[in-house]
Amino acid sequence: MSTNSEGHERVRIFDTTLRDGEQSPGAAMTHQEKIEVAELLDAMGVDIIEAGFPISSVGDFEAVNEIAKRTKNAVICGLSRAGFKDIDRAGEALKPAKRFRIHTFISTSPVHMKHKLQMGPNAVLDAVGASVVRARNFTDDVQWSAEDATRTEADFLCRCVELAIRSGATTINIPDTVGYTTPQEYVALIQMLRNRVPDADKVIFSTHCHNDLGLAVANSLAGIIGGARQVECTVNGIGERAGNAALEEIVMALKVRKDAMAFTTGIDTRMLARASKLVSNVTGFPVQYNKAIVGKNAFSHESGIHQDGMLKNVETYEIMRPEDVGVKETSLVLGKLSGRHAFREKLSSLGYDLSDEAFAETFRRFKALADRKKHVFDEDIVALVDDGVIRGKDTISVQSLKIETGIGVAPAAEMTLSVDGEIRSGKTTGDGAVDAVFAVIRTLYPHPAHLQLFQVQAVTEGTDAQANVSVRLEENGRTVTGRAADTDTLVAAAYAYVNALNKLLVKRTKQAPEALTVAR
Ligand code: KIV
Ligand code: ZN
Repeated sequence: MSTNSEGHERVRIFDTTLRDGEQSPGAAMTHQEKIEVAELLDAMGVDIIEAGFPISSVGDFEAVNEIAKRTKNAVICGLSRAGFKDIDRAGEALKPAKRFRIHTFISTSPVHMKHKLQMGPNAVLDAVGASVVRARNFTDDVQWSAEDATRTEADFLCRCVELAIRSGATTINIPDTVGYTTPQEYVALIQMLRNRVPDADKVIFSTHCHNDLGLAVANSLAGIIGGARQVECTVNGIGERAGNAALEEIVMALKVRKDAMAFTTGIDTRMLARASKLVSNVTGFPVQYNKAIVGKNAFSHESGIHQDGMLKNVETYEIMRPEDVGVKETSLVLGKLSGRHAFREKLSSLGYDLSDEAFAETFRRFKALADRKKHVFDEDIVALVDDGVIRGKDTISVQSLKIETGIGVAPAAEMTLSVDGEIRSGKTTGDGAVDAVFAVIRTLYPHPAHLQLFQVQAVTEGTDAQANVSVRLEENGRTVTGRAADTDTLVAAAYAYVNALNKLLVKRTKQAPEALTVAR
């Protein structure tokens, strides 16, 4: 049992943003984005990063493999079903990691066994033993999950867990796959397994709670009370359907209420806000304003009574400080006279360590922004860097854009695109200026993708604020989200659309032929 100086027991944080989170519709990330998220999770102190599901696509395999090579501290984990092909592929992808874990799972509930697996209980038991033994050929760190555990018959769950432990699993995960359980039930379930299963004290029990009834975080905390010492969660709670338990909420609940729950995590909570922004940017999923811990309004006090109390003593209405989770007062930082040195210092204070090439390009874009925008805030710089990361080396790029619009004017967009080095120009009208921009892109680069979402968010206050635009495209069942920031919303819209097209192109070349559907 590992405890800190206050005698609080350590709970491991297992982040599955890149696996359970990323596989939810519309949340797909590029290879580069996954690496960026993994680096931040590692720096933040996540214990285990589930980097993907290697057999599901060549793209997932490559991302897991690259994250395995680069990660400094965290254990890197890859998901696999019970089949040997899955397990071997995960083992291969994870091989370069300093420390890695194979996570193998199979459904155990009557409804899943009958309708999804079409397997009887004995065949499932055989698969449990065989899959764990196979995974142990690659590593001593094997996690076994009973998919749909909370709807599994208790005696059968005990038999499966016992067999997984006997076969060599070191972590036992008890997923509430469909977000059905309640805190009372979940405490009792974890306690029951720990009391009844032989050698249960030799393994770590883990929670994995979905949020269909809005209970994912409460259930995860209940699991810890019941004896689990690993929590599976995602940044911003992203994930299939209503999502997974939110990492930032679990971590802050344990930190703020350590008087009630004597547990600790290894997370540097001052990085939570940045992780939230990064994941929101790369997925295009906005964070709701009133979201606990990382929402825009989580620390704002609008009503007079609250403001008055806050001025007298912040503890009247604040149970944690904004800086504890990395939220800073918006600060005026740099202007058009700021030089390279000041810019580098600012980047490093924001936690960025760019290569010389990336720095030179970001500095050039900062100067261009400072020419157009009087005040350059921290948020503007974060948007600039993130925007640079996503554009990378693109096949399609916008060379020029001119827009005509106004009352009584037919909106039109005139654009030049470079497509794999070939220059294409044209002009198209539309129902509005944004429609005209997207129409001219479709004319210059015909493609079957459908627009699913167009979303604009101001990076800072004021009319000269940069606009952060997200564009979600869907093609043959695959969705990608492009994004871009610019002081001109229409320019950002054009860049974001083209960014999404570039992502589709990458996916087209990387996706494996057979797609898998996995219940999460
Ligand atoms: O929700 C779930 O059951 C899962 C498993 C694959 C662990 O995501
Ligand atoms: Zn899941």
